[in-house]
Amino acid sequence: MKNIVGVALVTLLTSTFSMAQEDRKIEQAIKHRQAAFTLMATYWSRILQTVEGTRPYDPDAVIIDARKVEYLSRLPWEGFVAGSEKGKTKAKDDIWLDEDQFKKLAKDLETKTTKLVKEAELKDPKKLKVAFEQARNVCSTCHKEFRKK
Ligand code: HEC
Repeated sequence: MKNIVGVALVTLLTSTFSMAQEDRKIEQAIKHRQAAFTLMATYWSRILQTVEGTRPYDPDAVIIDARKVEYLSRLPWEGFVAGSEKGKTKAKDDIWLDEDQFKKLAKDLETKTTKLVKEAELKDPKKLKVAFEQARNVCSTCHKEFRKK
């Protein structure tokens, strides 16, 4: 009898423990992707200001910022784990219902930010602007479809 209670108690404790662990994993995943977006937005807004003319055009600085955006654009996605539609997040549930579309837009951003680097390296502000707008369309399309206001 004692043994059975003991086993039940251990089972209960173990499952409570792994649930807490699972919650923690999800919380970490959400923080990870938000941090990646926040960092990406730092370098992104500098280029935005340049394109909009509120920041003097410094071709070398733009190249460095564009490379950071390119690198950071690879990082948010691993934070979109199953179950992470709940919690402190603005991500819509649709991400998991229409995963193909979400992944397509994520890939699109990677391609467009690589192009942004290539165009920035040409040091032609007109080409920079075009590449920037193309990448920006991906940001807004994805936010419209998959991010809560
Ligand atoms: C494939 C979809 C997708 C693309 C592309 C995308 N985002 Fe997002 N973004 C999201 C989602 C979803 C969230 C909400 C994340 C959350 O709250 O868990 C978000 C959140 C953010 C946030 C807020 C982060 C925070 O701390 O809450 C910023 C800033 C951001 N994105 C900037 C950008 C910029 C800039 C681009 C383009 C260069 C971009 N995003 C491209 C899906 C995307």
